Amino acid sequence: MITFSINGQEYEGQEGWTILDVARWNGIEIPTLCHHGAVEPYGACRLCAVEVDDGRRSRVVISCMYPIKAGIKVQTHSPRVLNVRRWIVQLLLDESPEAPQIKELARSLGVTPSRFQKTGVDFACHLCGLCVRTCQEVVGVQALTFGNRGLRKEITSPFRTASKDCLGCGSCVYVCPTGAMEQLFSRVAG
Ligand code: SF4
Ligand code: FES
Repeated sequence: MITFSINGQEYEGQEGWTILDVARWNGIEIPTLCHHGAVEPYGACRLCAVEVDDGRRSRVVISCMYPIKAGIKVQTHSPRVLNVRRWIVQLLLDESPEAPQIKELARSLGVTPSRFQKTGVDFACHLCGLCVRTCQEVVGVQALTFGNRGLRKEITSPFRTASKDCLGCGSCVYVCPTGAMEQLFSRVAG
């Protein structure tokens, strides 16, 4: 077992566990958007940021991908961490002002819509990849994929046509944290 501290209290975890694994196991709240226990971590949203002091320096890392190490000191709600989270949630809220999960995150962090809030798009896709990973890793088919690159990156079906692989199970709609997949689903499922 590996011993380290979270918010000044000692915890143990097994080799290979992440900070988020140990925190969740012990009921310590760390917000996430792109994480789901049923699929591999992807590190897209960065909401799960925590501050880690490894004895040499202190830095902000993403807890869903950071493996625990003996002796590290983790802070889940330091001012630095809260600043990062608020900044991320501000961007999410401005793009998806009506998504319940994002509204709740914003409320808990005291974030309100900014003057850059988008109008006409209530449920934007934030490219968290949960739908793609669930389709591939849980359902076992490849009905969804990422298309394009950079600013034009998007979720689509292979070859941009209704996917023959799609079982119509709706798992992608279920895991989507913003509601965007509901709008994309009919295009993918055909
Ligand atoms: S459609 Fe939803 S689940 Fe899929 S990448 Fe976009 S926000 Fe994430
Ligand atoms: S939950 Fe860790 S990066 Fe999204």
